[in-house]
Amino acid sequence: MSVFDRDADNEVSRGARAVIALPDMGREARRDVSARLDEAAGLAEAIGIDVQDKLHFRIRAARPATLFGKGQVEQIGDAVAAAEAELLIVDAAITPIQQKNLETATKAKVIDRTGLILEIFGERAATAEGRLQVELAHLDYQAGRLVRSWTHLERQRGGFGFLGGPGETQIEADRRLIRDRMAKLRKELEQVTRTRTLHRARRQRAPWPVIALVGYTNAGKSTLFNRLTKADVMAEDLLFATLDPTMREIGLPGIEKAILSDTVGFISDLPTQLVAAFRATLEEVISADLIIHVRDISHPDSDAQRADVEQVLAEIGAAGEEGAPMIEAWNKIDALSPEESDRARAEGERREDVVLISALTGEGVDGLLACATEHLRKGAAVRRVTLPAAAGEAIAWLHAHGEVLAQRHEGMETELEVRLTDQEWARFQARRAEA
Ligand code: GTP
Repeated sequence: MSVFDRDADNEVSRGARAVIALPDMGREARRDVSARLDEAAGLAEAIGIDVQDKLHFRIRAARPATLFGKGQVEQIGDAVAAAEAELLIVDAAITPIQQKNLETATKAKVIDRTGLILEIFGERAATAEGRLQVELAHLDYQAGRLVRSWTHLERQRGGFGFLGGPGETQIEADRRLIRDRMAKLRKELEQVTRTRTLHRARRQRAPWPVIALVGYTNAGKSTLFNRLTKADVMAEDLLFATLDPTMREIGLPGIEKAILSDTVGFISDLPTQLVAAFRATLEEVISADLIIHVRDISHPDSDAQRADVEQVLAEIGAAGEEGAPMIEAWNKIDALSPEESDRARAEGERREDVVLISALTGEGVDGLLACATEHLRKGAAVRRVTLPAAAGEAIAWLHAHGEVLAQRHEGMETELEVRLTDQEWARFQARRAEA
């Protein structure tokens, strides 16, 4: 059996009846157990799995063989039988050994959280780049499983040798297949990324600021994006409806045009393979002029979700000192109780970087646009400057302090289009006044 046969065997079919089991290790005390189960069910339903039952178990000491305790495994087995489920989803990362033992004990196919997220990414990847990234991440995940699950078996295939030299073990052959395929994918990905970077460079020459929407999965980014652009981006009550960044022009009061970019939904415990693979997708966020962090303020784990999003932003260098300014859109205020709403509004009033909205009803959206405009104005704007061609020092200064988007020589004059902050612009004008 080659790795690719196993791959086919791993596929999860739509409509599969499933039971979800959440091992509560006590590490995630800040998160609500039932909200975590709901999120896992939402992830499963996003790829058409029919969730029949959700269970959670307190784990005091993880058992290497099965993760869950003996009695817990029996309970899970009973639930699987009662629901006539063919699939057991374990909402945690499990080892290949645990996966195999749980499959034997419950007579159901078992996938873990990483496997589930990979399935969703695989189904939702819309662009060539997204698809390549997901396949790469999937192979990386498989390669990891291969090492742990097959090395101890040491299945010596002896003299067959059609995949490799005589005596090559199956695992080595499988690994080599995966490695070759990954190398090929990386090359293709490089090519695709280069093309996209070219497009972006061309677009960046246009004097429009870029606003990136980020947020935890299901926070309401696509709904807001649609409202702001009147575009028809798929908005569903499905997690990860957004996988690849979508860019659209929007009009802002007082700013001719801006580009709004919708990004992939963030999630806790994002498989490390995917964090790396999706870095390219998030590049839009790194080069944005403003980040709007859309938060589902009605979610019980809203604060934990914010922490997750901010951590990923920090990891990719898009938050803090080096990153773009960020405002928070506290979404779904229509779903708050009157008391919660009062509390949120009071806190929102106190903070300059917070706007309360409902992407669904449209409440507060104008306020959000005004806030975004204000932040963009405070930040860099594109200025047009005409200088004598001989003003080499001033031109060099602009190159050093701003982003020169265009430079034309007209007779004895040089015309520049340069993106500068208000502060630098004021400094530049002061220097010219002195000169
Ligand atoms: P991902 O694609 O998973 O990243 O999700 P997203 O952040 O793009 O969320 P999306 O816009 O798809 O919205 C998720 C769900 O929340 C949908 O069912 C929306 O109808 C709902 N939703 C979005 N905004 C609001 C809101 O202001 N109020 C309420 N009550 N529901 C909202």
